[in-house]
Amino acid sequence: MSSEKLRVLTGITTTGTPHLGNYVGAIRPAIAASKSTDFDSFFFLADYHALIKCHEPEQVRQSAREIAATWLALGLDTNNTTFYRQSDVPEIPELTWVLTCVAAKGLMNRAHAYKAAVQANEEEQQDPDFGINMGLFSYPILMAADILAFNAHRVPVGRDQVQHLEMARDIAQRFNHLYGDTFTLPEAQVDDNVAVLKGLDGRKMSKSYGNTIPLFLPPKKMQKAINKIKTNLLEPGEPKDPDTSTVFQIWQAFASEEQTAWMRKQFAEGIAWGQAKKELCALINDELAEARDEYERLMADPGFVDVQLRKGAEKARERAGRLLAKVKTAVGIPPLA
Ligand code: TRP
Repeated sequence: MSSEKLRVLTGITTTGTPHLGNYVGAIRPAIAASKSTDFDSFFFLADYHALIKCHEPEQVRQSAREIAATWLALGLDTNNTTFYRQSDVPEIPELTWVLTCVAAKGLMNRAHAYKAAVQANEEEQQDPDFGINMGLFSYPILMAADILAFNAHRVPVGRDQVQHLEMARDIAQRFNHLYGDTFTLPEAQVDDNVAVLKGLDGRKMSKSYGNTIPLFLPPKKMQKAINKIKTNLLEPGEPKDPDTSTVFQIWQAFASEEQTAWMRKQFAEGIAWGQAKKELCALINDELAEARDEYERLMADPGFVDVQLRKGAEKARERAGRLLAKVKTAVGIPPLA
């Protein structure tokens, strides 16, 4: 029944605190989609992926808690979706090994993230492998297992992840060719309609640029962060260009059409930057205040979050377990009698 629906799956690496860019670009659309009963959706915390980049246990733990609480606080319906930690589904690393044995090494050599790390070493005249762990090299295979363990049809991701989806398809195809039709070939879904939010310095909002605004800052701190958004030196009363303004761009991501038109007019009429930033903080607060209160509650009650994740892991294991049994039988490791 439900297994006939289109399966939509995506993972979130558990490093860092969710910020406005994550919310607008990924979390908000995913939660909206999760309400539809037309899809069978899977959302998970990619905590094994986090270990590749982060060797700080407290940071990994804290980030996973924050991300889980964020998704739940924003209204993710855990009855209508499967929400789990990757590490609670041992079938995923098991499948990873089987896939590792069909994935071509040459394919992994071509992964952008790995190549970038090698290139950075070469530029600094280091050994090309300096600081590169096998996790980084095999990253695309673990990601393929995340997806193929559920035979997901569609995978919403950012543009930077499209190559990983191609690799997942390649690995799935190779397995199917060797052992018979087992895996669905997944497709990346890159949504060009959602805004890629700009950060404090006007570049894309991203943890790696250190220019983010955390999603659930209390109002005063939110105002402080918003005040740091870079603007030009135009005085109050001087008309300002909305289309090159980060303040306006973030406004637009939270505003209705009327509110956007209204702010456009304020810009034309020379609204002061300080005032525009005040309005922006109030608008964001309108959308997020309730979820922020819920987030605070959930962060203070990890037991509740754990129960949700455990429920998700159970559902996920049941599904992945069935497929893994098929896979193992296909490769010649059937269950013992
Ligand atoms: N690599 C993804 C990222 O950094 C996170 C991720 C891990 C993922 N496994 C996945 C995304 C499976 C989609 C499907 O954004």
